[in-house]
Amino acid sequence: MDDPARVTVESDDETTRETVYDSEGEVEAGGATFRFSVGGAGDSDGDDPGEAAGGDDGNADGNGNDVDGDDADGDPLFVAPLEEVPTDSTIRRTAMRPDGRRGVGFILRRDADSGEVFAWRNSCPHKPEVPLDPGRGARVDGGEIVCHEHGARFECGDGLCTWGPCVGEELDPVGVEVRDGAVYLDDERFASVRPR
Ligand code: FES
Repeated sequence: MDDPARVTVESDDETTRETVYDSEGEVEAGGATFRFSVGGAGDSDGDDPGEAAGGDDGNADGNGNDVDGDDADGDPLFVAPLEEVPTDSTIRRTAMRPDGRRGVGFILRRDADSGEVFAWRNSCPHKPEVPLDPGRGARVDGGEIVCHEHGARFECGDGLCTWGPCVGEELDPVGVEVRDGAVYLDDERFASVRPR
């Protein structure tokens, strides 16, 4: 889903509003849980902030790059060519669980000094429903990722928050590895990668 949507759930004694960045999720109000899916995406147990439906198996990201596994000899864990991972912003992908129906949005960034690639869940520790990269790439300033919502700053590497409302907390890491000039998912929780 390119643009976030506002979901409102009303019960007798409570109104809950959430901004939704992925194509499925859930909102709780009055002890009830409202689960939604946009665009015919698959279902989800909704127990995981930042989860997204498997959705379309398109073959290009916002930059027109083929990222659906057709590259790198069809390896389902292929994420991106190394040179496409920026040092001054982020790219985002979706890591799919083995059931192939639920995914977790994550972002990647390359350390400008070491050249090492790091990946984290696309979620701000201050408000997990807020993606650090809303689709245009996260803002990087002074070597740190900056949350667009309230300005929290996160180091590359362990993703430590050095300033802001969640200072001292860390981004949730996603395992990746670099081989043969490309980045691959290396995390036992996930079985494949989808664009965005
Ligand atoms: S949501 Fe990221 S700093 Fe508040």
